[in-house]
Amino acid sequence: MAGQKFGDWKNIDVEIEDRIAWVTLNRPHKRNAMSPALNDEMIEVLDAIEVNDDAGVVVLTGAGESFSAGMDLKEYFRELDHLPYIQQVHRRRSAWHWQWRMLPNYSKPTIAMVNGWCFGGAFTPLVGCDLAIAAEEAQFGLSEINWGIIPGGNVTRSVVATMNLRNAMYYVMTGKTFDGKKAAEMGLVNEAVPLANLREHTRELAKELLGKNPTVLRACKQAVRGVLGMSWELSDDYLMAKSHQSRYLDTEGGRSQGLKQFLDEKSFRPGLGGYKRDA
Ligand code: COA
Repeated sequence: MAGQKFGDWKNIDVEIEDRIAWVTLNRPHKRNAMSPALNDEMIEVLDAIEVNDDAGVVVLTGAGESFSAGMDLKEYFRELDHLPYIQQVHRRRSAWHWQWRMLPNYSKPTIAMVNGWCFGGAFTPLVGCDLAIAAEEAQFGLSEINWGIIPGGNVTRSVVATMNLRNAMYYVMTGKTFDGKKAAEMGLVNEAVPLANLREHTRELAKELLGKNPTVLRACKQAVRGVLGMSWELSDDYLMAKSHQSRYLDTEGGRSQGLKQFLDEKSFRPGLGGYKRDA
């Protein structure tokens, strides 16, 4: 990759290239299993990228042949088992924080690029990302049942947020693996492409997002998650407020640009693409 190395973390590699921050979980010898140290670092990584104007989109992926083999079974389970409950909770907190608090609320668009193995705990950051592209060859599995636990760490929550009840039940109960094509068919990821095209395909999607108005894009993604669980009345009111907020925050005035270019200048058609943004 011809990107610029960003930061210096032991378990995570970050490169910024053409405003795309490629965040790579980097423990290939452990199939990128997420250890406490890695999870601590991910908070720093996401914090640092969020305030870095050189990065407009985040792509989360894994080094080598794995996206992530889930939580590190040795460092989270065996080595914490003897600790008092509160200390176990404390040690797990950084994982929760970046995987299902920071990611879903992140102010920049996020794409999970699933390059290989994706097991158990890895479903939480996968679903925490706004979009996901998988290699057709990638293998997914809710393997918890296979070693005698239930999918905790909000894995079950992530699964039912994306897969229908029958599929969620089937894969949670059997622990069977499925490939990237099946993940796309079930809606767990947006699409699956051959591994050889995965990076280029993800880059194209990231570029498309970079072409959008970032303020409005942020409001859009917040709104999609925000309306889940709201009544129609509350949702309508929230979306109206969100729309006003986004106009207020949008320094490039996207809405008036769009209306002017369509209605007056007749220079574009909103149904077919975006308005022309000033360089
Ligand atoms: N936690 C801790 N260590 C893990 C790990 C995990 N989730 N996944 C893999 N590793 C370690 C292995 O213990 C091994 O370590 P070692 O070299 O010190 O012995 C190393 O990573 C390589 O794993 P290995 O099983 O030899 O690789 P593989 O390519 O043959 O198989 C997997 C890859 C992902 C299929 C297999 O490692 C696996 O099943 N991992 C566990 C997946 C899982 O159930 N995750 C937890 C969900 S809750």
